[in-house]
Amino acid sequence: MSKLLKCLIHKDYSCVPIWFMRQAGRYLPEFRQLRSQNKNFLELCFKSDLAAEITLQPMKRFNLDAAIIFSDILVIPHALGQQVEFRKINGPWCPKFNINKLIDIKDKDFLLTLEPVYQAIKKTKDMLKKDKALIAFVGAPWTLIVYLYNLKEQRNLNNKVIISNRKEIQIVIEKLEEFLKLHILYQKKSGAEVIQIFDSWAGLIEEKDLNDYCFKPNRNLVNFCKEINIPVICFPRGLKNNYKKFVDEVKPSAINIDQEIDPRWVKKHLNDVCIQGGMDPEILLQDEKIVLNETEKYLEIFKNNPYIFNLGHGILPTTNPNVIKKIVDKVNLITK
Ligand code: CP3
Repeated sequence: MSKLLKCLIHKDYSCVPIWFMRQAGRYLPEFRQLRSQNKNFLELCFKSDLAAEITLQPMKRFNLDAAIIFSDILVIPHALGQQVEFRKINGPWCPKFNINKLIDIKDKDFLLTLEPVYQAIKKTKDMLKKDKALIAFVGAPWTLIVYLYNLKEQRNLNNKVIISNRKEIQIVIEKLEEFLKLHILYQKKSGAEVIQIFDSWAGLIEEKDLNDYCFKPNRNLVNFCKEINIPVICFPRGLKNNYKKFVDEVKPSAINIDQEIDPRWVKKHLNDVCIQGGMDPEILLQDEKIVLNETEKYLEIFKNNPYIFNLGHGILPTTNPNVIKKIVDKVNLITK
């Protein structure tokens, strides 16, 4: 059994599996090379041979315990008939959100569009060493809504997002949940062994809406994963002290913490759950000594906890790949 599954299923804290969010990405020259030959990012996600190859790129360089399938949370809006654009400056968004298209889409058409993702999972699984785990993922409904309605444009960084059309949002959340479950199921059928749910913009939700927009949809997806028997890691980024409420309400197999939250507070307040991540990706841009000290800090704090080493968000494109190697070797040296 892979270290990741030992940790997630048996809560075995004698081993510390390690993987990174965005471990396949622009900080790797071999990724940039393939990317430069494929200008359209979504098209690249749908070329299953290349997606499998990119997924395995970091596995060849580093002694990581898990591969995460190269895809994107925005393949879902795309498969639901929405136009998705990736812009250099403003980031991704859906310029013409059309709720009717979303409501009309048929399961078989949705699955047909996403077939290359399932093929990529199968191909990766065939090539992946047996002691490594394969992670697949989805974006949580709220985070997809942020891109569907282009809500990021409307906030100035600390502002919460106020939703006026609550009825419509509720319909969209429920529709998304239905299709996300289908995507989770087909990713599992294709060979994925763990699901991560990214709620990257959970921190923008007003306190009074947390239950409807964050806890409830995440809980429904987590319960679905439990039904089909696949461990699930949740990442409700930016929740601050509400991380505790999230864990109590949603009960995922593991929770990814971000860098805003003090790991000592986490150790004290989040019980009965496996912890993942936490270290600030910006630290990786600093001196090697600082990076390794911070790595040790997280290992020390969570030494008597089921803990999966990762960061508080994805690897930044300006990160030196050698730093990743140093961290992986350090974690593997001082843990099992
Ligand atoms: O982690 C991995 O290695 C697996 C691949 C992966 C990607 N996106 C590839 C990608 C995963 C897990 C994601 C998830 C994702 N996508 C999230 C949740 C995690 C997070 O970062 O909060 C979100 C919010 C998205 C939406 C998205 N896709 C954004 C905001 C961007 C642009 C910002 C950026 O970092 O470039 C993307 C594009 C994207 N997705 C890239 C990659 C490797 C960069 C594409 C490029 O080469 O230009």
